[in-house]
Amino acid sequence: MTFNAKRFLKKKIKEIRKIAGRNVALCATSGGVDSMVCAFLAHRALRKNLIALFIDDGLMREKEPQAVAKILRAKGIRTVVLNTAPDFFKALKGKEDPEVKRKAFRDTFYKTLGKAVKKYQAKYMIQGTIAADVIETKGKIKSQHNVLSQIGINPMKYGLTIVEPLVTLFKPDVRKIGRALGMSKSVYQRMPFPGPGLATRVLGEVNPRRVKIVRKATAIVESEITKLRPFQAFAVLLKDQATGVKKGRRAFGNIIVIRSVESKNAMTAQPTKVPFEILERIQRRIIRDIPEVTKVLYDLSPKPPSTIEYI
Ligand code: XMP
Repeated sequence: MTFNAKRFLKKKIKEIRKIAGRNVALCATSGGVDSMVCAFLAHRALRKNLIALFIDDGLMREKEPQAVAKILRAKGIRTVVLNTAPDFFKALKGKEDPEVKRKAFRDTFYKTLGKAVKKYQAKYMIQGTIAADVIETKGKIKSQHNVLSQIGINPMKYGLTIVEPLVTLFKPDVRKIGRALGMSKSVYQRMPFPGPGLATRVLGEVNPRRVKIVRKATAIVESEITKLRPFQAFAVLLKDQATGVKKGRRAFGNIIVIRSVESKNAMTAQPTKVPFEILERIQRRIIRDIPEVTKVLYDLSPKPPSTIEYI
């Protein structure tokens, strides 16, 4: 049966109203498709009783906090930007194992939400978890940041009652909901961006210095590849380093991987056939603009056996 976005929307608006009633609810938005669609949907249901919370965790893309807040406020959604980068970097300090990093992120994320819920006297937390997040976490592939109760963690541990209106959907249907909500195409057709942000693209320790490198590289990759309309494209900072030569001198620098994939629902993916000239241009810009980088690679691996992100 084809998915009927309008019918789904009507049903979810009714459900959210029934659950949240006249109480205040929070919706954490990272700027990614799922959380933005979720915020717009929850706003349709709760209007002024919804607060969109943008947690600036220091792991966002360039200029993202301002851009996301602008989109939400333009729609009349009450929006709060919380600067909590020091908490996240403290939690991630010295951690290298991917799952340990993911769990540290998740814990800090929900602690932050728990505090915000208290501060704004909210009763509910509406979040944009989708089916793929749950499948991957339950399948023990990776601990997605927004999956708790499905793996036996009680959200009340953080003082939260969670509502997940999109949890039965995969990405293509989430985008249809975005369209049915009248969101701008540039928002619902945007590349997915994971909740743990750039932390999923930094191998080894996630610290401000290393995030800055991957953030700059990501902006370059996005600006050159977006025109090809891949499912997702970004930069990754490897843990290893490589010898290079910059301005006639030896430089033992960082390695950036360009990752671009085609996918429908993120459960499988193929590398994008990026024209070589575009790869070369990205390489030139990264090496020129980011002094810490000496090597740029292109990732050819499909999912499976690879995954889309690096942790
Ligand atoms: P992987 O790396 O598992 O990613 O192939 C599949 C899709 O999920 C996104 N992703 C996440 N999204 N929280 C999210 O909200 C997470 O913890 C998370 N981990 C991965 C990833 O960007 C891709 O679109």
